[in-house]
Amino acid sequence: MEKKHRTIIEPFKIKVVEPLPLPSREEREEYLRKAGYNLFLVPSREVTFDFLTDSGTTAMSAEQWGAMMVGDESYAGSRSFEKFEKVVRELTGYSHVIPTHQGRAAEKLVFSLLAKPGMKIPSNNHFDTTRANIEQLGAEAVDLVIAEGKDPQSRHPFKGNIDLARLEAFCQENQGKIPCGMLTITNNTGGGQPVSLENIRGAAAIYRKHGIPFILDVCRFAENSYFIKMREPGQQERPVRDIARETFALADGCMMSAKKDALVNIGGFIALKDPAWVDRLRSLLILTEGFPTYGGLAARDLEAMAVGLIDVLEESYLEYRLAVTRYMAEKLNRLGIPTVQPPGGHAVYIDAKSFLPHIPPAQFPGQALVVELFRSEGIRSCEIGSVMFGKAATMELVRWAFPRRVYTQSHFDYILEGMEDLVANKDRLRGMRMTYEPPFLRHFTARFEPLLDG
Ligand code: F0G
Repeated sequence: MEKKHRTIIEPFKIKVVEPLPLPSREEREEYLRKAGYNLFLVPSREVTFDFLTDSGTTAMSAEQWGAMMVGDESYAGSRSFEKFEKVVRELTGYSHVIPTHQGRAAEKLVFSLLAKPGMKIPSNNHFDTTRANIEQLGAEAVDLVIAEGKDPQSRHPFKGNIDLARLEAFCQENQGKIPCGMLTITNNTGGGQPVSLENIRGAAAIYRKHGIPFILDVCRFAENSYFIKMREPGQQERPVRDIARETFALADGCMMSAKKDALVNIGGFIALKDPAWVDRLRSLLILTEGFPTYGGLAARDLEAMAVGLIDVLEESYLEYRLAVTRYMAEKLNRLGIPTVQPPGGHAVYIDAKSFLPHIPPAQFPGQALVVELFRSEGIRSCEIGSVMFGKAATMELVRWAFPRRVYTQSHFDYILEGMEDLVANKDRLRGMRMTYEPPFLRHFTARFEPLLDG
């Protein structure tokens, strides 16, 4: 059918709404002072546009809410588990399904079984919690993303790809020390960038050749599959569900934070082709998460995941979802606000170092921007730079992660109008000084003070 419209609309009607907090600029200034200029310490009732994360912030569908009402809350052998297990099996092709309360719980279980001191686990980039779970067991999490994945201006279509030549060399050098190999799709740490099917096939072949089990981190598998459909030669005519199925078929198992592409507020799972680890994983699961047919969740959560995992592969939804980040990035760029290129799936990353060149990294340009975005626009976003990583930071980024199906185009247009003023006055922005530094994970609780002129 001929396409008449250029605008990609929200492919849903709204049935339930909640009011948008609209504090004044003066009120926001006051909240900032009280929170020590740390947005993690601002209550959400004061935030107009909450872009802190896309995790667990989804608006669920009427069908998901309806399914929750028929949840079978039996301790063992619940009907809701059977439904959830069937959906995950059909989607992934993996027989063994273990629910967990979120992604990091899946990671903790898998690595408790596999990771020992001296071992190494390669991936494109490990997400923070994945790395932390591997490293607290004495093993090493190794990032082997392609060089383009580290260059914010490179327009490579699959910047989440793993460097296959380095992976092959790494597997040869570390024989007997690699308990599993991974890929994160999409690659969150690298900016929500996709991994191509060709690259997943290449990594699978290398892992197979070396006898290494291949585990995918699939929390944004649907966004990744749609990027493949849009960008990878020969994939345009394929249903996105087929692309997702092939992705899963190439690996031996997966871990998923359902708080992203299962369109729910809580949940996760492990799914595996082979039964070898399953009994031991289930025993560990009982220690911390609960019985294997609920894994730290209520049955109603399993019901919502079962519906979400089907809905997320609706192509009109995915077209709209990726249009959101593309729209915001292009408009910001047109206003002179540089972002990591090309925009990823779930978030836009503003390059605060190039946008505010007059603020040196020691004065936290990313945090200065985060504070100004809240003060002038009511946006809550997250610094990924010198506040988060200290002197190890190579970039000064500000992440706007978009909750799924929560904000509309008029919200985004309203924000963009406000950004014009911010651009006009950007030279007046000043850096920040850290007045309280906690001993670890300092970005969550650090406190700041704005630096004044002179
Ligand atoms: N893997 C990836 C790629 C993630 O992005 C996350 C979470 C996890 C694993 C852990 O899942 O939160 O359910 O325990 N990312 C969130 C974010 C927190 O804001 O990017 P979880």
